[in-house]
Amino acid sequence: MSTHEQKEIESKILGYFLDLDIHEPVTPNVVSKYDEAVFDTFQSGFSFLSDIRRLYDEEKLPPLVKPKQPQNAISRYREDFPILSRKINGKNLIWFDNGATTQKPKAVIDRLVYFYENENSNIHRGAHDLAAKATDAYEEARQITASFINAPSSENIVFVRGATEGINLVANAFGCRYLKSGDEIIISHLEHHANIVPWQLVCEKTGARLRVIPVDESGQIILPEFEKLINSRTKFVSITHVSNALGTIVPVKEVVRIAHAHGIRVLIDAAQSISHFSIDVADIDADFLVFSGHKIYAPTGIGALYGKEDALKILPPYQGGGNMIADVTFEKTIYQDAPAKFEAGTGNIADAVGLGAALKYVRGIGLENIARYESQLLSYTVSELSKIEGVRIIGTALQKASVLSFTLDGFTTDEIGKALNQRGIAVRTGHHCAQPILRRFGLESVVRATLAFYNTFDEIDEFISVISNLKR
Ligand code: ALA
Repeated sequence: MSTHEQKEIESKILGYFLDLDIHEPVTPNVVSKYDEAVFDTFQSGFSFLSDIRRLYDEEKLPPLVKPKQPQNAISRYREDFPILSRKINGKNLIWFDNGATTQKPKAVIDRLVYFYENENSNIHRGAHDLAAKATDAYEEARQITASFINAPSSENIVFVRGATEGINLVANAFGCRYLKSGDEIIISHLEHHANIVPWQLVCEKTGARLRVIPVDESGQIILPEFEKLINSRTKFVSITHVSNALGTIVPVKEVVRIAHAHGIRVLIDAAQSISHFSIDVADIDADFLVFSGHKIYAPTGIGALYGKEDALKILPPYQGGGNMIADVTFEKTIYQDAPAKFEAGTGNIADAVGLGAALKYVRGIGLENIARYESQLLSYTVSELSKIEGVRIIGTALQKASVLSFTLDGFTTDEIGKALNQRGIAVRTGHHCAQPILRRFGLESVVRATLAFYNTFDEIDEFISVISNLKR
C-alpha cells in the first residue's frame, strides 16, 4: 500500500469520526461504514486503533453513532468546559496536561455550588434535614463510583484523597499486619513514585523487600519475568494499569490471574487508566484498585479505593478517629465495617459529590466512545510527531493510552515546554514522578502530552507546528 493510500484511509477514518455525533444512536449502515474504515485501517497496520479494538471485546463496544447534523460532536463537549475557552499568552488554551489533571465540566462545577448552597452539612451524625441531604448525596456518589467500575456494592468503595492515599492505606494496613522480614512485594518498573515509595516505607518498617518486574524496549512489562519473581516469600503485587510516563496499558488481568494462582493479593493503580477506557473490577478480579477523581474530570482531593469484601475485611484500620468506630471505651474500640472503618474523621464530602457528578458525566459520553476517539488522536499525533527530525518517542508499547512522551534533539525538555506554553499549549516536562522508568530509557526528563476526549485534531496540528518550527 502506498503512503498516499494509507493517508487516504487514515483521513477517512479520522474525518468520519469527527462528523459523528456520539450522543445519537446509530443506524446499521453507519456502523458498517465505520467498521469498513476500521477494517481497512487494520489492514494498513495503523496499530493503536486496532489494538484498542482488540483489547476490548468488540461485541461489548456500543454501536457507533451518526451525526444529527454535520457538526463536530467534540466541539459540543468542549463547551461543557469553561476553562477551555480561556486565552493563555493571547492564544487559545490547549490543554495537553490531562495526565496531571483534567479540566472540570460545568456539571461538576455546578454540582459543587449546589452542594454548598443547598446541602452543606457534616454527614451521618446530625439529626437534621441538611445532614440527611448531605449524607444522601455522599452515599449516592459512592454508589455511582461502585457502578462505574462494576463493583458489587457501594460498600466496596472507600473514599480517599486520591490514588496516592489509597496505596498508602493498603500498603500500611496490609504491611503492618501481614509483612515480616524477608517477605517480598512485587511492583513493576513502570510505577509512579506513588506506587514505589509507600511500599519502600513499609519495607523499612517490616524488613520486607521490593522486587521489580522489568519492561522491554517498548515499555511493556515482561510477563514471564513476573512469573519468575514469584516465590514463597511473595506476599503482595501492586502494579499500575497505565504508565503515567509512557502510556503503556499493562495486561493487569493476566497479572492478577498469575498472582492469584499463587494465592497473592493484587492492587491496581488505575490513576491513569480511569479516564481513558472502561474498567470492570469484577472482570480484572483485582483485590484492590485505586484512582484519583481529578484525573477523571472531578475535583482534586477525592478518589476511591475499591476493595473486594474479603480483602477489606482482613485489613486493620489505617487511621483512627470519629466515624470509623462502632464503640469506644478506654480499654477497647470496636470498629465499623468497611468502608467506614477506613474513613476516619470528616471526609471530603462536597468533592465526593463532585466525583459522582463527574462519573455521571463521563458515563453520558461513554468510555467506549472516549477510548475510540482518544486512540485516533494518539495515532494521529504519533504519526505527525514521528515525521519531525530528531524526535524520539519514549514508550512504544502496542497497547497504549493517550499519553505521549518524547524528546527532541538539540532542545531541552524545558525549552520545548516553554515554547509550547507561549502558544497556549500546556504539557508537562520533567520526570513525571516516575524516575525509574525514565532512567530505564536513559533519560531524566521528557516532554509529555496527555490527551483527553475534548482535545481536537486542530490542537494537535498546532502542537506539531510549534515542535517542527523550533529553531535555535
Ligand atoms: N501523577 C500525575 C502525573 O503523572 C501528577 O502528572
